[in-house]
Amino acid sequence: MTNLKTVEVVAAIIELDGKILLAQRPPHADQAGLWEFAGGKVEAGETQPQALTRELREELGIDALPARYVASHQREVSGRMIHLHAWHVVAFHGEPTRHYHSALLWCKPADALKQRLAPADIPLLEAFMASR
Ligand code: C5P
Repeated sequence: MTNLKTVEVVAAIIELDGKILLAQRPPHADQAGLWEFAGGKVEAGETQPQALTRELREELGIDALPARYVASHQREVSGRMIHLHAWHVVAFHGEPTRHYHSALLWCKPADALKQRLAPADIPLLEAFMASR
Protein backbone atom coordinates (compact mmCIF):
# COMPACT_ATOMS: atom_id res chain seq x y z
CA MET A 1 0.00 0.00 0.00
CA THR A 2 1.30 3.48 -0.80
CA ASN A 3 2.09 5.75 2.11
CA LEU A 4 -0.06 8.76 1.45
CA LYS A 5 0.49 12.02 3.28
CA THR A 6 -2.33 12.49 5.80
CA VAL A 7 -3.90 15.92 6.01
CA GLU A 8 -6.15 16.93 8.92
CA VAL A 9 -9.07 18.99 7.63
CA VAL A 10 -12.03 20.50 9.49
CA ALA A 11 -15.43 21.22 7.96
CA ALA A 12 -18.44 23.13 9.29
CA ILE A 13 -22.04 21.99 9.09
CA ILE A 14 -23.51 25.46 9.58
CA GLU A 15 -27.22 25.35 10.40
CA LEU A 16 -29.74 28.17 10.32
CA ASP A 17 -33.54 27.78 10.41
CA GLY A 18 -33.40 24.07 9.53
CA LYS A 19 -31.10 24.57 6.53
CA ILE A 20 -27.40 23.86 6.22
CA LEU A 21 -24.83 25.70 4.15
CA LEU A 22 -23.07 24.09 1.19
CA ALA A 23 -20.21 25.79 -0.65
CA GLN A 24 -19.07 24.99 -4.18
CA ARG A 25 -15.34 24.43 -4.69
CA PRO A 26 -13.84 26.95 -7.14
CA PRO A 27 -12.45 26.08 -10.60
CA HIS A 28 -8.78 26.33 -9.55
CA ALA A 29 -9.12 23.97 -6.56
CA ASP A 30 -9.06 20.19 -6.43
CA GLN A 31 -12.56 18.70 -6.53
CA ALA A 32 -13.60 21.80 -8.51
CA GLY A 33 -17.36 22.23 -8.84
CA LEU A 34 -18.23 19.80 -6.06
CA TRP A 35 -20.17 20.99 -3.03
CA GLU A 36 -18.55 20.80 0.39
CA PHE A 37 -18.88 22.00 3.93
CA ALA A 38 -16.67 25.06 4.27
CA GLY A 39 -13.42 24.52 6.13
CA GLY A 40 -9.84 23.58 5.46
CA LYS A 41 -6.54 22.31 6.78
CA VAL A 42 -5.69 22.40 10.48
CA GLU A 43 -2.41 24.28 10.91
CA ALA A 44 0.34 23.32 13.38
CA GLY A 45 -0.58 24.26 16.94
CA GLU A 46 -4.28 24.77 16.23
CA THR A 47 -7.13 22.84 17.80
CA GLN A 48 -9.88 21.78 15.40
CA PRO A 49 -12.32 24.47 16.64
CA GLN A 50 -9.59 27.14 16.30
CA ALA A 51 -8.83 26.02 12.75
CA LEU A 52 -12.50 26.04 11.84
CA THR A 53 -13.09 29.50 13.31
CA ARG A 54 -10.13 30.81 11.24
CA GLU A 55 -11.26 29.08 8.05
CA LEU A 56 -14.84 30.33 8.39
CA ARG A 57 -13.58 33.88 8.82
CA GLU A 58 -11.32 33.52 5.75
CA GLU A 59 -13.76 31.69 3.48
CA LEU A 60 -17.15 33.08 4.52
CA GLY A 61 -16.38 36.24 6.49
CA ILE A 62 -18.29 35.05 9.56
CA ASP A 63 -17.29 34.77 13.22
CA ALA A 64 -18.35 31.33 14.37
CA LEU A 65 -17.80 29.03 17.31
CA PRO A 66 -18.10 25.29 16.51
CA ALA A 67 -20.72 23.90 18.91
CA ARG A 68 -20.45 20.13 18.61
CA TYR A 69 -18.18 17.56 17.03
CA VAL A 70 -20.20 15.41 14.60
CA ALA A 71 -18.01 12.76 12.96
CA SER A 72 -14.81 12.10 11.03
CA HIS A 73 -14.10 10.34 7.76
CA GLN A 74 -10.84 9.36 6.11
CA ARG A 75 -10.51 9.13 2.35
CA GLU A 76 -7.99 9.55 -0.45
CA VAL A 77 -8.51 12.83 -2.29
CA SER A 78 -6.21 13.88 -5.15
CA GLY A 79 -3.32 11.71 -3.95
CA ARG A 80 -3.51 12.66 -0.28
CA MET A 81 -5.25 10.98 2.65
CA ILE A 82 -7.78 13.51 3.86
CA HIS A 83 -8.90 13.06 7.47
CA LEU A 84 -12.02 15.20 7.50
CA HIS A 85 -13.62 16.21 10.82
CA ALA A 86 -17.11 17.73 10.82
CA TRP A 87 -18.34 20.19 13.43
CA HIS A 88 -21.86 21.54 13.87
CA VAL A 89 -22.08 25.34 13.90
CA VAL A 90 -25.31 26.93 15.11
CA ALA A 91 -24.19 30.39 16.20
CA PHE A 92 -22.26 32.88 14.13
CA HIS A 93 -21.98 36.61 13.51
CA GLY A 94 -22.18 38.07 10.03
CA GLU A 95 -23.72 36.97 6.76
CA PRO A 96 -21.87 34.11 5.00
CA THR A 97 -20.31 35.63 1.87
CA ARG A 98 -18.19 34.05 -0.87
CA HIS A 99 -14.51 34.84 -0.34
CA TYR A 100 -13.24 31.59 -1.89
CA HIS A 101 -16.08 29.43 -3.23
CA SER A 102 -17.95 29.69 -6.55
CA ALA A 103 -21.37 29.62 -4.92
CA LEU A 104 -23.15 29.13 -1.60
CA LEU A 105 -26.36 27.19 -1.11
CA TRP A 106 -28.65 26.87 1.90
CA CYS A 107 -30.68 23.67 1.76
CA LYS A 108 -32.39 21.10 3.93
CA PRO A 109 -30.04 18.24 4.89
CA ALA A 110 -31.99 15.72 2.78
CA ASP A 111 -31.74 18.03 -0.26
CA ALA A 112 -28.02 18.52 0.36
CA LEU A 113 -27.58 14.78 -0.18
CA LYS A 114 -28.93 15.23 -3.75
CA GLN A 115 -26.18 17.71 -4.67
CA ARG A 116 -22.83 16.66 -6.20
CA LEU A 117 -20.98 16.54 -2.90
CA ALA A 118 -17.26 16.06 -2.31
CA PRO A 119 -17.07 12.31 -1.52
CA ALA A 120 -15.55 12.72 1.97
CA ASP A 121 -18.39 15.04 2.97
CA ILE A 122 -21.17 12.52 2.23
CA PRO A 123 -20.65 10.22 5.25
CA LEU A 124 -20.34 13.29 7.46
CA LEU A 125 -23.68 14.61 6.27
CA GLU A 126 -25.20 11.17 6.81
CA ALA A 127 -23.76 11.04 10.35
CA PHE A 128 -25.14 14.53 11.00
CA MET A 129 -28.62 13.50 9.83
CA ALA A 130 -28.52 10.29 11.88
CA SER A 131 -27.51 12.21 15.02
CA ARG A 132 -30.76 14.23 15.10
O1 C5P B 1 -10.01 23.57 1.28
P1 C5P B 1 -8.65 22.93 1.31
O2 C5P B 1 -8.01 22.82 -0.07
O3 C5P B 1 -7.74 23.50 2.35
O4 C5P B 1 -8.93 21.42 1.78
C1 C5P B 1 -7.90 20.47 1.92
C2 C5P B 1 -8.34 19.17 1.25
O5 C5P B 1 -9.53 18.67 1.88
C3 C5P B 1 -8.66 19.30 -0.23
O6 C5P B 1 -8.24 18.11 -0.90
C4 C5P B 1 -10.17 19.38 -0.26
O7 C5P B 1 -10.69 18.91 -1.48
C5 C5P B 1 -10.56 18.48 0.91
N1 C5P B 1 -11.84 18.88 1.53
C6 C5P B 1 -12.95 18.03 1.45
N2 C5P B 1 -14.13 18.41 2.04
C7 C5P B 1 -14.23 19.58 2.71
C8 C5P B 1 -13.12 20.45 2.81
C9 C5P B 1 -11.93 20.06 2.20
O8 C5P B 1 -12.88 16.95 0.85
N3 C5P B 1 -15.39 19.91 3.30
